[in-house]
Amino acid sequence: MDPRLQRRVQRYGWDRAATAYDQAWSRQLRPSQDLLLELADLDEGEEVVEVACGSGLVTQRIASLVGPSGKVVATDLSGRMLDQARNLLAESGADHVTFRRLDAESLELPDAAFDASLCSLGLMYVPDPPVALREMGRVLRPGGRTVVGVWGERGACGWAEVFPIVDARVNTAVCPLFFQLGTGDNLARRMEEAGFRNLEVERITTVIEYDSPEEAVEAAFVAGPVAMAYSRFDEDTRAQLHQEYLASIAPYAEADGFRVPGEFVLARGEWTSSSGVRK
Ligand SMILES: C[S@@+](CC[C@H](N)C(=O)[O-])C[C@H]1O[C@@H](n2cnc3c(N)ncnc32)[C@H](O)[C@@H]1O
Repeated sequence: MDPRLQRRVQRYGWDRAATAYDQAWSRQLRPSQDLLLELADLDEGEEVVEVACGSGLVTQRIASLVGPSGKVVATDLSGRMLDQARNLLAESGADHVTFRRLDAESLELPDAAFDASLCSLGLMYVPDPPVALREMGRVLRPGGRTVVGVWGERGACGWAEVFPIVDARVNTAVCPLFFQLGTGDNLARRMEEAGFRNLEVERITTVIEYDSPEEAVEAAFVAGPVAMAYSRFDEDTRAQLHQEYLASIAPYAEADGFRVPGEFVLARGEWTSSSGVRK
């Protein structure tokens, strides 16, 4: 897929998903976000850049961990997601957080200016993740750390059929390499190649709970990465998509909804004084 097209699909797709995102996903993503923050081990007064901050669910927690003596720069490609995040943070009066609409592959921020760079469930959508990882390292002071969380292996994510179901009706894959980083040791390898050292990796299983078919359909099509493609389908096509998707998660149906298995992979790496030096 042409990287420029992928960025446009992501930017405007997440714009569309922005207002539905928290309701559909905040509970489901919490285990990954908790582990990301545990691995980041942030201290009061630290300066943090967050990549692909989305609606601010993690930003809010980073802001409270570093406190007003710290600094948070929250970045995302989608302007509407950033609006959501701004609104969320405004409620807690966090003056030490600033928001920038930036592509993960091109963080227009100074070198060696932050203690930590974090990215929760955003790197799968970036056309060239190694470029984004190098950017996340470049902005760190020596000794700083990066923590990244991604979805795990395709076979471990019971909702994965959403992509082929949509891709069958559009010209190019919506998220061509979605499961690549979460497969095997790919995430750690990409981080090592980008220059990170002292890597720590955790793979955790999770359960995505939907109380009804409507809730499952809303999360998959309206509040997530295929929102752009979905918005362009007519009513009949949408009804077919719903039917196919619900059939794909039928093995996980229970009396009161669905319990769909999922997997997350999280990795932490340190940026040392020799990290940016090409061998
Ligand atoms: C699943 S959301 C994750 C949001 C948040 N980090 C969280 O954990 O709830 C994915 C986010 O990645 C952002 N994104 C997609 N492609 C991006 C890119 N190339 N650069 C920066 N952000 C991007 C989207 O706009 C969206 O807000």
